[in-house]
Amino acid sequence: MLIRRPSDIPSSEITPESVYLNRRQWMKGAAGLGAIALSGGALAEPVHMAPADPKGPAWLKNQIGKATPAADSKEELTPYQHVTTYNNFYEFGYDKSDPSNKSGKLSTDPWQVEIAGEVAKPGKYNLEDILKGVTLEERVYRLRCVEAWSMVIPWIGFPLADLLKRFEPTSKAKYVAFTTLKRPEEMPGQKARLSTIQWPYREGLRLDEAMHPLTLLAVGLYGKILPNQNGAPLRLVVPWKYGFKSIKSIVKIELTETQPYTSWSAIAPEEYGFYANVNPKVDHPRWSQAQERRLPSGLLRPNIIPTQMFNGYAEQVASLYNGMDLRTFY
Ligand code: MTE
Repeated sequence: MLIRRPSDIPSSEITPESVYLNRRQWMKGAAGLGAIALSGGALAEPVHMAPADPKGPAWLKNQIGKATPAADSKEELTPYQHVTTYNNFYEFGYDKSDPSNKSGKLSTDPWQVEIAGEVAKPGKYNLEDILKGVTLEERVYRLRCVEAWSMVIPWIGFPLADLLKRFEPTSKAKYVAFTTLKRPEEMPGQKARLSTIQWPYREGLRLDEAMHPLTLLAVGLYGKILPNQNGAPLRLVVPWKYGFKSIKSIVKIELTETQPYTSWSAIAPEEYGFYANVNPKVDHPRWSQAQERRLPSGLLRPNIIPTQMFNGYAEQVASLYNGMDLRTFY
């Protein structure tokens, strides 16, 4: 059941994430508006240890506050604390804690995105113009990393398809290439002498994958602006693919005729393919992909669960790959 809350108050602004979670759980069983009124007790709970809100422009906070809430997810959300401190964002280092510890200096306002290649309306656009008139929505997606850990995250964003249509792809457009910001003075990992990644980080999708309604451009999570470590101010989220496809801090989107360069498939093509669809039957050469560690996990509660085909989105996306051997196109 979809229960809407007042559109001008993001839940996270009035509740800590733990209460946000409990309230969502509670609302799952609640019936109608009367039940929402009764939830006042939960709303009024004191805020403990709420992390500082990520910085960002007022217009974006305002727009995020008006996002359409997701239908309640059947899965437990990964706590905000884990979503924002256990990250892969190699521009800030290789440790999971580097992105949250070292991304504070990244400046994300103003932000421009170049739309290039096979489109009728190429150009450099301010993020504010890109988001003008866009209704943001909350989407709860599983994120499965190729390293075999996973999370469940309430993103705030809008379909990539809506953006691409506005710039009118030409008939030659077959792929979409994405590029992350390269700014070594604010991204210490880009200064490392022995980096395996050729900066900037790049990713790509086939045009039909990019146009799929599940493919999201995110600007927030948990009702707040996207923290820098999660790819502020604009990142891709492709929930049926391994996390490395979900490129962060995007500065360029280019429509191309041929399959674009992608960072990880260039570094180790036998380990990381262009498609990178979550697939429990095709192992990584060095480890199994049959299971995953759902965060939070620890020694006493490892929380190992089976990995689902296409990360559980097979019904929606399997037809994109009809007739393709997924062992060849991994
Ligand atoms: N995007 C950029 N620019 N740089 C990165 O290192 N890491 C990827 C992806 N996007 C990465 C990136 C990987 S490997 C994963 S699993 C996800 O981001 C992690 O997203 P999260 O830190 O928000 O959980």
